[in-house]
Amino acid sequence: MTESKEAFLEVKHIRKTYGKFTALEEINLTIHKGDFVCMLGPSGCGKTTLLRIIAGLEAPTEGQVFIQGKDVTKLPPGKRNFGIVFQSYALFPNMTVRENIAFGLKKKKLTKKEMEEKIRNVLDQVNLADQIDKYPAQLSGGQQQRIALARALVVSPDFLLLDEPLSALDAKVRLKVRKEIRSLQQRLGITTIMVTHDQEEALTMADQIVVMNNACIMQQGTPVEVYDQPNNPFVADFIGSINFFQTDIRTNANLTTDKSLMEKLTEHQENIKACRPEDIEIVQKKSLNSFNVLVHDIEFHGYGYRLWLDLGESENALVNNDYISVDMSADELASLGIRKGDEISIRFKRGKLHYFHQTKKQANA
Ligand SMILES: Nc1ncnc2c1ncn2[C@@H]1O[C@H](COP(=O)(O)OP(=O)(O)OP(=O)(O)O)[C@@H](O)[C@H]1O
Ligand SMILES: [Mg+2]
Repeated sequence: MTESKEAFLEVKHIRKTYGKFTALEEINLTIHKGDFVCMLGPSGCGKTTLLRIIAGLEAPTEGQVFIQGKDVTKLPPGKRNFGIVFQSYALFPNMTVRENIAFGLKKKKLTKKEMEEKIRNVLDQVNLADQIDKYPAQLSGGQQQRIALARALVVSPDFLLLDEPLSALDAKVRLKVRKEIRSLQQRLGITTIMVTHDQEEALTMADQIVVMNNACIMQQGTPVEVYDQPNNPFVADFIGSINFFQTDIRTNANLTTDKSLMEKLTEHQENIKACRPEDIEIVQKKSLNSFNVLVHDIEFHGYGYRLWLDLGESENALVNNDYISVDMSADELASLGIRKGDEISIRFKRGKLHYFHQTKKQANA
């Protein structure tokens, strides 16, 4: 369990401004030893800035960074002992794989033999030992990125920083390198922070996901936590798909029996309830909690179908889309015999509604 692990990195009250612009606002973060942490968020939210502050490549305007309990805020990058991989492979094009990896070892004062041993060893780990004499241009994108990873690892760093290392690769290669990075990280047990704006990447790779938006951390948790218990509408929407419904709590039939939640919600007139496409079911007979919709469209998604349903005039007014999205398998769709234009009844699966209080800021985000 993460709770019992020792804290490796702590970021406390970090703020970063560029002139009048705030790139990071009150960032607090604890990362445990050996964890694979994904910083996930839309473009411009401050992911790279936070990574660079952790690396010491950028100084925070306010706040502190601790590595293994030691305040490193003023320590230069060279003294923080991390390996880093960027989105662009950043290999030297005029150097072979061997020379590229040796570059990081220059300061280590090793004999030629020791150096060669280290290089071969790390190339074995990324399964590219046979490419040692090639130049970057003679390698595929995926191979180049694994060489960049080898170069980051050859100095035996305490932790690894990866800034969108997979985003330049095509979908298939990306998947393969994703698995390789994850299994290598687990084998080495090395604390790793990876920046990504790809939610699937974060969900499949991370022990912990840090969801960011607008210079702030919106939520930190395991992939299951951020997916199943999103703290706010942004996280619910950014990770996976979700339908938001406007709801006046006092007139809605689909109410929770949780008393404290009821009290919390009735304080505010404007609330949102939300339900993921896989958590809405089609019912054969109309019941108290079901409501009628028109099938506006049926989309094939390979693994199954997504139905887009038209609410018409209903109290369950949608907030974020024109149509409700509902996912189902091909078998289910076939057995129900649903077609475009049909009128059907749906309801939210039990316990699968999320309630959020919509603040002005969230509504405008
Ligand atoms: N040196 C700088 N001077 C001024 N503004 C900057 C500087 N570096 C970053 N910013 C701004 O800070 C914000 C956060 O940038 P950052 O690079 O951290 O975003 P990001 O989350 O990594 O985005 P992306 O996914 O596009 O890489 C952006 O609006 C960016 O324009
Ligand atoms: Mg970035």
